[in-house]
Amino acid sequence: MYGIQVSEFGSEDVLVHTELVVPQPGTGQVRVRMRAAGVNPADTYVRSGTYEFFRPELPYTPGFDGAGVVDQVGAGVDTVKPGDRVFVAAQGTPGCTGTYAELAVVDAIAVHPLPAGLSFAQGAAVGIPCVTAWRALFQRARLQPGETVFIHGASGGVGLHATQLAHAAGAVVIGSASTPAGADLVRAAGAAHVLDHGSAGHLDELTRITDGRGPSVIIEMAAHLNLEKDLTVLATAGRVVIVGSRGSLDFTPRLAMVKEAAILGLALWNATPAEKADALAGVAAHLRDGALAPIVVDTLPLREAAAAHRRVLEQGTRGKLVLIPE
Ligand SMILES: NC(=O)c1ccc[n+]([C@@H]2O[C@H](COP(=O)([O-])OP(=O)(O)OC[C@H]3O[C@@H](n4cnc5c(N)ncnc54)[C@H](OP(=O)(O)O)[C@@H]3O)[C@@H](O)[C@H]2O)c1
Repeated sequence: MYGIQVSEFGSEDVLVHTELVVPQPGTGQVRVRMRAAGVNPADTYVRSGTYEFFRPELPYTPGFDGAGVVDQVGAGVDTVKPGDRVFVAAQGTPGCTGTYAELAVVDAIAVHPLPAGLSFAQGAAVGIPCVTAWRALFQRARLQPGETVFIHGASGGVGLHATQLAHAAGAVVIGSASTPAGADLVRAAGAAHVLDHGSAGHLDELTRITDGRGPSVIIEMAAHLNLEKDLTVLATAGRVVIVGSRGSLDFTPRLAMVKEAAILGLALWNATPAEKADALAGVAAHLRDGALAPIVVDTLPLREAAAAHRRVLEQGTRGKLVLIPE
């Protein structure tokens, strides 16, 4: 079978499409014939070899997320059977051989039924993006119905699904995107207003929209650029959840005093098994009732994984990027 192999950490060029040994499921494991693999920014950090949470042994096949059909189950697995359509959410589980391949072996706990109305590409968009969105809104910010949440960076994998989930929870959602196409998706996902985070005055507009009070919750995808500014517009006693940050910034702690703000970090890698199960149960329920409809921006052939890694870090994101094994 074919898949992507990384034999040394480095740039996108280390992603090599090659023939791989067929992995065999052990006790408690499932082999899935992958029909789609989700590309997450974290995949690029792992590939670089400098990601503080995870440094795989070389060589390895990337990918935590995907969807496909169960091909074979190991001893002791009774949650799925061969032929079942499933999505894979394997981040943080030890047994995953990597979803960027025609076949992947994963622990049974990482394999979930894919509702009939969803495509494999949509299933590949569920794992990290939707579980992160759930954790940010409900486990970290403890968002309540009727509260206003600003999703600063709502047009990407995490942001669009956070918009859908917050809308379904009865919150008033304001999102941001840097392109008109991204803004359209954010609006369609349930945001009442969409701001352009590429324009200098967008946070003044946020203050105006919220009648000067500011949002109670901000879910932040680019804290290295926005954290200080977020605190100037946050409601008093509000919460900011840092989901993404790719650098440092000058920060005035007094702003957090003035607002009595809670600044909450989020790392999916710190979620306990119970928190993961809670998030996945919530996500799965909303996949079934339709409140959560994963948004895929584009698909690329698996052999173009290097191009996908370049694109996932570019500005102008509109939903999720997915790789399809040929
Ligand atoms: N902490 C964790 O455990 C965890 C888990 C998952 C993801 N993350 C991180 O969270 C971030 C988002 O992940 P993702 O999968 O949604 O990535 P993605 O699909 O690439 O989306 C990135 C989002 O950030 C937005 N953005 C770009 N510049 C921005 C700015 N100046 N201000 C506000 N937003 C801006 C993009 O909007 P435009 O493209 O429209 O400009 C887009 O909506 C990444 O940094 C990722 O590494 C962290």
